[in-house]
Amino acid sequence: MGVFCIRVSTGCSLYAGSIDKVHLWLVGEHGEASLGMLPAPQRNSEVEFQVDVPEHLGPLLFVKVQKLHYFLDDAWFCNWISVKGPGDQGAEYRFPCYRWVHGTRILSLPEGTGCTVVEDTQGLFRKHREEELEERKSLYRWDNWKNGGILNVAATSLSDLPVDERFREDKKVEFEASRVWGKADVLLNFPINSLTSWKDLDDFTWVFKLGRTKLAERVRSSWKEDAFFGYQFLNGANPMVLRRSTQLPSRLEFPRGMEKLQAKLHKELEEGTLFEADFSLLNGIKANVIQSRQQYLAAPLVMLKLKPDGQLLPMAIQLELPKTGSDPPPIFTPTDPPVDWLLAKCWVHSSDMQLHEIQSHLLRGHLMAEVFSVATRRTLPSVHPVFKLLVPHLLYTLEINVRARSDLIGESGFFDKAMSTGGGGHVDLIKQASAFLTYSSLCPPDDLAERGLLDVQSCFYAKDALRLWEVINRYVTGIFDLHYKTDAAVRNDHELQNWCREITETGLQGAQKRGFPVSLQSRAQACHFITMCVFTCTAQHSSVHLGQLDWFYWVPNAPCTMRLPPPTTKDATMEKLMATLPDPHQSTLQINVIWLLGRRQAVMVPLGQHSEEHFSSPEAKAVLMKFREELAALEEEIEIRNKSLDIPYEYMKPSLVENSVAV
Ligand SMILES: [Fe+2]
Repeated sequence: MGVFCIRVSTGCSLYAGSIDKVHLWLVGEHGEASLGMLPAPQRNSEVEFQVDVPEHLGPLLFVKVQKLHYFLDDAWFCNWISVKGPGDQGAEYRFPCYRWVHGTRILSLPEGTGCTVVEDTQGLFRKHREEELEERKSLYRWDNWKNGGILNVAATSLSDLPVDERFREDKKVEFEASRVWGKADVLLNFPINSLTSWKDLDDFTWVFKLGRTKLAERVRSSWKEDAFFGYQFLNGANPMVLRRSTQLPSRLEFPRGMEKLQAKLHKELEEGTLFEADFSLLNGIKANVIQSRQQYLAAPLVMLKLKPDGQLLPMAIQLELPKTGSDPPPIFTPTDPPVDWLLAKCWVHSSDMQLHEIQSHLLRGHLMAEVFSVATRRTLPSVHPVFKLLVPHLLYTLEINVRARSDLIGESGFFDKAMSTGGGGHVDLIKQASAFLTYSSLCPPDDLAERGLLDVQSCFYAKDALRLWEVINRYVTGIFDLHYKTDAAVRNDHELQNWCREITETGLQGAQKRGFPVSLQSRAQACHFITMCVFTCTAQHSSVHLGQLDWFYWVPNAPCTMRLPPPTTKDATMEKLMATLPDPHQSTLQINVIWLLGRRQAVMVPLGQHSEEHFSSPEAKAVLMKFREELAALEEEIEIRNKSLDIPYEYMKPSLVENSVAV
């Protein structure tokens, strides 16, 4: 009993305030007391008031909140409520909220230290966590879009999403404004779009304008160079395909007269400097038909050699897999006539763009993050420390993915209109790529070892991925150790176990056969798994997302579609090349989408810089501070390294890595 000082913080987005009054109660271990009515909370404000509480409440557990309205329900975005008391000597308790308060139901906000079921020996939060999960399970339901190998949130339109998943006003305004700007650009390009084909490569400059980057300019001037082609497998938009060869790929059948090439490849293989980029996943995928015109796909294999100076140079390109009973498909090499070699490289770029968007970006970034998001909400209550740790990294993922399903990969979306894998091929590709979604491939220390990239000095993706993985892992472990003192505490936390199983068995549809854990047996194993979640939602997504604007803006470097079949002979002409590359309308659509998604976001939270304080304890705050210090040190390291590079590698610079999959 005594005087308590209450502070209430309201969010800063445009409609965060409310015209409604709010009733508050304080709940302690020994009792409950009304704190009275709070006047209408103002946007971006912190209100402080004092209340004399006659009851003896004991240690505080919850603040209960009820918003009351007369005619209109004016939702209120509450950041947190803090309570200090009784008297000046009393402790300060923080009750994080960070969600919309709407309707008239009573919301219970648990004190912010965080607590697992194992730590809650008295069961003080038991009823609360059970009720919260029951509600969340009805709000967040699974669905299976097009029967792919991975589940998503049940929401066909944005209005189906829980209100806390929607973009807040600043993000919404920025996103919608760019969409309008993009649509206007398509209309402005109308005279160009009505042309059936470009005349020469320079014509792509017509659509190369809106917000291009310095590196995109460089791509335009250097894209034909072999070293620049090879560089992209190491540090471009999609550094996920390259691997060191351990033998010559079985699909590589040499046509007569190519014995010299075979010998050269063998020599590089023996020296451990032979690499490959295999796009076999595209084999058998049905190509799109755009405006009644058949489009085409290939399934290339590129063989490359790593030079001592770090340059990766292409040695051979095979565009299609051999067919039994037919002559082996041609193998293109740098000594072929320049147009034949360039056309072969354009085919590789186009295939790379298809796999980048569907496999590396959508499936392994966006859809994985969506699985974590839905599973976390369904199985971990807000008082759980792992929920608190993960929730900043799940912001806006459900909305951006619902938008992607309707505007990009859904019927009549961008894929159907402009991508060679559109029209259903992309749906099959998601399913086929799901089979390769292994646990180890999502953890850079394992993935880079498996791909033989650990000691490739010129692979900055690999270097930065490893460094960021370590930094994130130390952060995760720091928080985790505050709540789990033994491995038994991990094994006995049925909520944590349910969370792991929900991801592996349900969201990822039986991913235990791909190495994902179905249960967590130790602290180290749990931290590894959580690190994989955070890394995927942040660094990994950014590493493939940010490169789009640089590498996909010059259309010949990333053709969204190919309008003629892959060559089977070596007699290409410029006319054939131009008739193969995207037409003006397809190019405009590509530039438009790449700009909408790839441009640097005005509203974005860099990795670890979220303002929400889901943890209230000084120990947890110290771990977050340490994380931020390590990120700042890494930022500096990368900046210094980049100064000495011809092309700076920036996609894992902590200040550019977004805190969640939000675009
Ligand atoms: Fe993205």
